[in-house]
This record gives sequence, C-alpha cells and structure tokens, in this order.
Amino acid sequence: MEPLHGHVRPRGARSVTPAIRTDGLTKRYGQRRGLAGLDLEVHPGEVFGFLGPNGAGKTTTIRLLLDIIRPTSGTVEVLGMQPRVAGPDLRRRIGYLPGDFVVEGGQSSRELLTFLGGLLGGVPKHRLVTLADRLDLDLDARIRSLSKGNRQKVGLIQAFMHEPELLILDEPSSGLDPIVQETFLGLVREASEAGRTVFMSSHVLSEVQRSAHRVGIVRDGRMVAVEGVDTVRARAIRRFEIRFEVEVPADVVAGVPGLDRVVVDGSVVRGILEGRADPLLKAIARYPVASILSEEPTLDEVFLAFYRRPEGDDGAA
Ligand SMILES: Nc1ncnc2c1ncn2[C@@H]1O[C@H](COP(=O)(O)OP(=O)(O)OP(=O)(O)O)[C@@H](O)[C@H]1O
Ligand SMILES: [Mg+2]
Repeated sequence: MEPLHGHVRPRGARSVTPAIRTDGLTKRYGQRRGLAGLDLEVHPGEVFGFLGPNGAGKTTTIRLLLDIIRPTSGTVEVLGMQPRVAGPDLRRRIGYLPGDFVVEGGQSSRELLTFLGGLLGGVPKHRLVTLADRLDLDLDARIRSLSKGNRQKVGLIQAFMHEPELLILDEPSSGLDPIVQETFLGLVREASEAGRTVFMSSHVLSEVQRSAHRVGIVRDGRMVAVEGVDTVRARAIRRFEIRFEVEVPADVVAGVPGLDRVVVDGSVVRGILEGRADPLLKAIARYPVASILSEEPTLDEVFLAFYRRPEGDDGAA
C-alpha cells in the first residue's frame, strides 16, 4: 500500500480549528502518574500516530479526549469544543474505538451495530454491510461466539460506520491478522482522503508509519517528540545484527558513518544503523559473513536517534 504523502497543512492554519488540542494535560490517579502535562495539536484532516511504550499515557489521553475521565489539570479541546460540556452532540461527530473494546452477549453484530448506529444518529444499512464485507465479518454470528480479532472488527465498524469527522482509535490493529490490518489501513486512508481526522495509538512505528502524516511519541506522560512521517522515514533507522563465520576484531566497523551503539561480541556485531547501508556492507565484506538481520528499531531507539545531542551540547536551551 502506498503511504500517504502530500498532506498539506491548511492555509492560514491559525484560523482553522484544530481537531484536537491539549495544553498541559495532566492526570493523576491518586499517587500514580497517568499524564504529566501533555501538549498535543492534531490538524484537521491529518492522520496522527500516537506512539508510546506500555504505561506511557496513551489510553489516559484518549479517555480524557472522550470525557470518560477528567483531567487533574490542563485543557482539552476536541473539534473546537470542550468534551466536558459538549455532550452527545460532540460524541456523534467522533468515532471511538476503546483499547479494551469488549462486547458480550447473545445478540449478533448486526443487532449490536444497528443499535449503536441509532445512538450515533442513524447509519444506513448498506454501509454496515459494506464495512463487514471488507473486514470479512459475519454480521449474523453471535458476538459471544466471535474470536478476539473478529470482535475487534466489530469495534472498528462501530467507530467508522457513521462517517465521523474525527476518529479516535486506541490500538486499532491489535488482534488483527495482516490481511485485515491492510483493510484497516485502507479505511484510514479513505477517511483521510475524505477530509476526516484520524488519531490512533500504537506501540509500533512501522504500523503508523504506513498511514500517518505525523507521529508523536509519548513517554512517561509527556509528548517527547512530534515528527512528520517523511522525516522519520528519511532517517531510515534500523537495528542490525551481523553474524560472521569467524571471530572479528573489535574495531571491525570502526569509522563507518551512521552507526550507533555497536557491540562486537566474538563473531557477532550488533548496533543501530542510520541511513545508507553501503559503507557498513563494504566494511564487513573483509570477513566471511554468515548472516545479516535488519529489523525495525524500538521506539526508544528512534527517539534517541532523533534527539541525540551533538557532543559538547549540554542541552541548555
Ligand atoms: N485507573 C487507573 N488507576 C491507576 N493508575 C492508572 C489507571 N489507568 C492508568 N493508570 C496508570 O497511568 C499510566 C498510563 O497508563 P495508560 O493506560 O494511559 O498507558 P498506555 O500508554 O495506554 O499503555 P499501554 O500501551 O499498555 O496501553 C500507567 O502508569 C498506568 O499504570
Ligand atoms: Mg493503552
């Protein structure tokens, strides 16, 4: 699937109401930190990937946006309104998939979705059927009998079915197999092309990288980085592991540009490579190579690569 390119921020952005804006958003659960001053702005029509490790504050943020929980301090605006006072009118303009979408019961997906559609202001039958077909969900099966992934499809349908202006999705592709994940990314792309805004959380960069215009990384309750996806992609940060057929000297890749955190351990060399692979390949070719593994870095590795300060800069700014 082609990633989304060419997203243009609306002209005269100051006069455009952000789809989502938070300012110093803070949530404490007793002594526990949920969120510690989160600043976030999502532009209308963009797909924003909200990334972070477990416990970072993604679900807390999303629940605050939906007024499921209330902030300790800070402000929230969704589609220009305060969720706390806007009520059902605002809710109907949002499609929400909770991270723990649970439905039980003896009814069928068709019955449940028709009921929820009524609450959201009515959904044409054909749209339900089309979504279910695309996601390969049997609308007549009892929800109780559905597998985890199939329940997640019900969750996705209820979020998309009323064609809301704003989709807020908490780990939407969890439990989906790769084919359904593709279908889901297609739905996101179409929503975006139709001018809707999508805000979705994830643990995995590669997933949002394929659909988002911008990604924000949240960590310990704060937004630590917001970057355009093209910028992240252009940096081409990869984690690698090279196995040689012989032991190699500790300085085997010394001087190769773009390397970070290299560990040489007998006949194995691991590290992070940013940018072109060619200099690394030329350097290792002096020894017999058994295998090369190259994989996606962790969020922390991406973050560190982006925010590593040049030596001598103590970051006073
Ligand atoms: N109801 C609650 N009571 C107490 N602490 C909570 C509650 N909900 C969340 N927390 C704490 O707030 C922090 C942020 O949790 P949150 O669920 O927002 O993280 P997350 O980024 O969604 O993580 P995950 O990737 O695991 O879903 C965590 O330290 C968590 O333990
Ligand atoms: Mg969560």
